[in-house]
Amino acid sequence: MLRPKLIALAILVCVALWLGRGMAIAAQSLLGRETAPQARHCALDRWLRLGRGPTLASLARGQDLYVGTAVNLKALGRDRQYRRQLAQEFNLVTAENDMKLERLQPRPNQFDFSQADRLMAFAADHQMAVRGHTLVWHRAVPDWLEQQDWSRAELMAILENHIKTVVGRYRGQIAAWDVVNEAIADDSTLRDTFWLRGIGPDYIEMAFRWAHEADPDALLIYNDYGGEGLNAKSDAIYDLVQSLRANAVPIHGVGLQMHVQVNAAPSPDEVAANMARLAGLGLQAQITEMDVRIRQPSGPDDADQQADIYQAMLQTCLDAENCNTFVTWGFSDRYSWVPGYFEGWGEALIFDNDYRAKPAYHSLIEVLKNYSTAAPD
Ligand code: G3I
Repeated sequence: MLRPKLIALAILVCVALWLGRGMAIAAQSLLGRETAPQARHCALDRWLRLGRGPTLASLARGQDLYVGTAVNLKALGRDRQYRRQLAQEFNLVTAENDMKLERLQPRPNQFDFSQADRLMAFAADHQMAVRGHTLVWHRAVPDWLEQQDWSRAELMAILENHIKTVVGRYRGQIAAWDVVNEAIADDSTLRDTFWLRGIGPDYIEMAFRWAHEADPDALLIYNDYGGEGLNAKSDAIYDLVQSLRANAVPIHGVGLQMHVQVNAAPSPDEVAANMARLAGLGLQAQITEMDVRIRQPSGPDDADQQADIYQAMLQTCLDAENCNTFVTWGFSDRYSWVPGYFEGWGEALIFDNDYRAKPAYHSLIEVLKNYSTAAPD
């Protein structure tokens, strides 16, 4: 008998708190005072979380640290738990697909910002930063663009228009743009792409210059995979960005994607050395797309080994003078790109299919707890 009454009472208190908060916010806005969007949106969520311990975002708060994730806009629209966990755990988002060229410019000079705008609105409502991904890539190029013969001048005009339209639209709202993505091939030469063939190798520096003109305050990043540690590919990336710097191209950092396997992750020491040499060029290093895939069915030690890799990479970023951004490529295995792309692999993220925290999540929390007590305010 007592239990239903207690539950009813708890619900009443909860609704009263929520309404009270809403009225306070309304009163504040009538008085013309600004309220932090995060406070506005998450009051109930946070109240419900009381006593459940810190989140990644709460530990990163005030530490000049971005803990982010790629967002699947379909999941954002239809999955309440996805939205809630995203808002609670992260202070930065990036679009997994919806800021790519084929999505933003599906027809010549006809832009569709509907999905990207939804992400921007979510981020603003929850006081999250946004990484823009990505302006120039050899994939996600629409047929109208790829399947026609363009002159060099035409292709340059299309690229300039795309970059300036997109970057200009979100000017001042994007913390960092992945300007050029994966321009180095696996054999460490410049990748043979539609852009390279049509414009020549200087498409890379043009892209950075156009992005900078459109948003002079955005950090402009070269983003790639497979060059996280020290190897031929990271050497090639280093050479590329060094020559861009030498030519006064506005580039501010390198994104280390970090799509790795549980049994073949780069050594943290090498990642640290790679970050340090980028710092020597005056460049930031960001971990931009981390996931750690496990061969299926997983073995008994895989989850712990995966946790160790996540932990080591976050620690490496925090220890580096030039790394303040740690982004995972999704957060729940429910929406990970991995099983669809690497047959027989999965479980790559920090929450499982049902949003339960995995050892990898707890390992990140531990790193951040130590960091937030050690770091000055
Ligand atoms: O949404 C459409 C759907 O309407 C259509 O019916 C279906 C048919 O193929 O395609 C759906 O789009 C797919 C999209 O993912 C959303 O699921 C695309 O085909 C598919 O190519 C796309 O794959 C994405 C891939 O980039 C290519 O753009 C992955 O989700 C995304 O995780 C992956 O992300 C990349 C980064 O951008 C760059 N670094 C590597 C990383 C992993 O490959």
